[in-house]
Amino acid sequence: MQFKLMVNGRSMTVDAPADMPLLWVLRDLLKLPGTKYGCGIGQCAACTVHINGAPQRSCVLTVEAAAKSRITTIEGLSSDGTHPVQIAWQDIDVPQCGYCQTGQIMAAAALLKRTPNPTDKDIDDAMDGNLCRCGTYLRIRQAIHKAAAINHSKVPSSTNKNTKSAKPKISTGAKKGGE
Ligand code: FES
Ligand code: FES
Repeated sequence: MQFKLMVNGRSMTVDAPADMPLLWVLRDLLKLPGTKYGCGIGQCAACTVHINGAPQRSCVLTVEAAAKSRITTIEGLSSDGTHPVQIAWQDIDVPQCGYCQTGQIMAAAALLKRTPNPTDKDIDDAMDGNLCRCGTYLRIRQAIHKAAAINHSKVPSSTNKNTKSAKPKISTGAKKGGE
């Protein structure tokens, strides 16, 4: 079946079975590998994207269900890696292996949109379920506070001046054969 999708602000048409998970549509059909496959059963949140601005797990959302929505992947968060969450992630040096980080960043960006000044509890509640086997949780919390501050221009980012030329250090986990 053909489905029209709005992904990262662009209208796209895909030919896919109606029950195909959005994750596979993004990665395999639309060649957007930034969204990661972790568990495939909605348990880890590595595959988090924004659906109409809210974080959702793309491994358990069918293409049919997503077709009428605005979909944002990490590739669409910013065109050059300068979203405040990405800048804060670099400043704090959050990632370890990097595999869960797409989902973490997408969840954090959605949180800051609805709660610009989150408390530790807001952060813990919003990020609950985004699993990190490397245990980067404390740095994630720190980075979310920093992103909130960047959003409010309370603190200058040490990487702001370099971000035009610098690529974001956020790993997409794209090791050979491991995307
Ligand atoms: S891959 Fe989607 S929740 Fe784990
Ligand atoms: S950084 Fe390795 S799983 Fe989170």
